[in-house]
Amino acid sequence: MRSSVASAALLAGALLCLLASPALVAAARSTGRTTLSVLSFGAAADGVTDDAEALVAAWQVACRDPRATVLLPSRHRFHLSPVTLQGPCSTKLTLQIDGTVLAPPEMGSWPKPSRPLQWLQDFSILGAGTVDGQSITSLQSASSPANTSQASTGHWHSPGVKPTLIRFYSSFNVTVRNIRITNSPQCHLKFDSCGGIKVKNITISSPGDSPNTDGIHLQNTRDVEIKSSTIGCGDDCVSIQTGCSNVHIKNVVCNPSHGISLGGLGKDYSLACVSDVVAENIIVQNALYGVRIKTWQGGVGSVRNITFTNVRVANVATPIAIDQFYCDRGGARCANRTGAVAITGVAYRRVVGTYSFQPVRLACSDARPCTGVTMVDVRLSPAATAPGGTVAPLCWNSYGEALGTIQPLGVGCLQRSNGYAMPLTQPFNYTC
Ligand SMILES: *[C@@H]1O[C@H](CO)[C@@H](O)[C@H](O)[C@H]1NC(C)=O
Ligand SMILES: *[C@@H]1O[C@H](CO)[C@@H](O)[C@H](O)[C@H]1NC(C)=O
Ligand SMILES: *[C@@H]1O[C@H](CO)[C@@H](O)[C@H](O)[C@H]1NC(C)=O
Ligand SMILES: *[C@@H]1O[C@H](CO)[C@@H](O)[C@H](O)[C@H]1NC(C)=O
Ligand SMILES: *[C@@H]1O[C@H](CO)[C@@H](O)[C@H](O)[C@H]1NC(C)=O
Repeated sequence: MRSSVASAALLAGALLCLLASPALVAAARSTGRTTLSVLSFGAAADGVTDDAEALVAAWQVACRDPRATVLLPSRHRFHLSPVTLQGPCSTKLTLQIDGTVLAPPEMGSWPKPSRPLQWLQDFSILGAGTVDGQSITSLQSASSPANTSQASTGHWHSPGVKPTLIRFYSSFNVTVRNIRITNSPQCHLKFDSCGGIKVKNITISSPGDSPNTDGIHLQNTRDVEIKSSTIGCGDDCVSIQTGCSNVHIKNVVCNPSHGISLGGLGKDYSLACVSDVVAENIIVQNALYGVRIKTWQGGVGSVRNITFTNVRVANVATPIAIDQFYCDRGGARCANRTGAVAITGVAYRRVVGTYSFQPVRLACSDARPCTGVTMVDVRLSPAATAPGGTVAPLCWNSYGEALGTIQPLGVGCLQRSNGYAMPLTQPFNYTC
């Protein structure tokens, strides 16, 4: 069993922490690539000895060399304690993971980062290898509901300090391709304060019952493409938090997971801004939600121009959800508050498949109803196995229009001729 002190240390950590300087550096002079294998820098590659020092040594050389590749070769297993790989570096630096990277299986051996995070630019991670967090079993017992008080002393739910297998901070023009990321103690791949992100053909897998294990987590990050990837985890498949805009998610399979999620936004009266998100050609299977927007009562700011197109769901409890009464504290601790993050311009086009609880749940704020909600060709039918029975769709303070085939019919509750009009208005002083 782990102590709460060990949990707290883990939460602040990340296995690979990647960052780069805003003011970068020399253009590539050479066109040939230099490949630096960590084996040449003293890596034991036995899956037991800590190879973090060898990786950092290879990184430091590669960082000064335009177009260099740091290689973790195939058929080797690299045990790594958490490392920070930091920029600024020369352009087109690549970390090629062909072997298996193993995070420490013991939570207690994940220290707090000992120095501040720094930055990367024009950087790629690719390869046929795996980054394995090895952390599932120990976390399940530590964070079960019976252990809530212990978990909270470990800051289990502290925002923004989730331990992450691969975490980018303040990095720009970053590509992550082909690798597999498994069994993270919490989030698998995180981008915070980044821009120009391309994620393609990656696989994320963790058990559906592993707590708080988001697949890809975006925070304060713009211009993102997530394509052709398969994500299975115990929390949000892709989680989009405040400060994100121009996010495109395409050809992604989420199974299992809690679906694609914007928020929770606006916690503790905070300002939240999310705009211009497109998720298309998405398959969500065996999930709590399909596509969801969740905001806390009392927040400010807005969520606007969000489109979900061609979403195929199977055995999803609630495929379409807007929840402006979001509360993950449970019970009486979330008091009703006036004000809400405004939600406007959300389109659901061709969302089809099966649900196991409620097809659509649009629960919008009394103070700031959702506007411009469009549904076109939404066809949802009960899954053969709906253990607790199903309930009718809900539309609460949701305005917009329903077009094409809408099934079940109750989903047509959106129908309004003045779909974009804000029926109730309150002063709106916060602009995003
Ligand atoms: C996707 O990644 C896998 C695993 O690394 C690799 O075998 C495959 O060639 C990649 N596909 C493309 C189109 O790059
Ligand atoms: C709660 O934590 C204690 C101590 O870490 C552990 O012995 C117990 O099994 C946990 N309970 C559950 C339900 O996981
Ligand atoms: C990112 O790439 C784009 C397009 O290639 C380029 O215009 C931009 O300057 C780059 N940004 C940074 C911070 O490197
Ligand atoms: C909505 O967001 C998408 C995705 O970023 C963008 O392509 C489109 O131009 C935006 N539409 C409006 C009206 O801003
Ligand atoms: C919040 O408001 C809802 C709807 O009016 C009501 O059902 C609920 O009891 C209220 N909750 C609290 C904690 O006051």
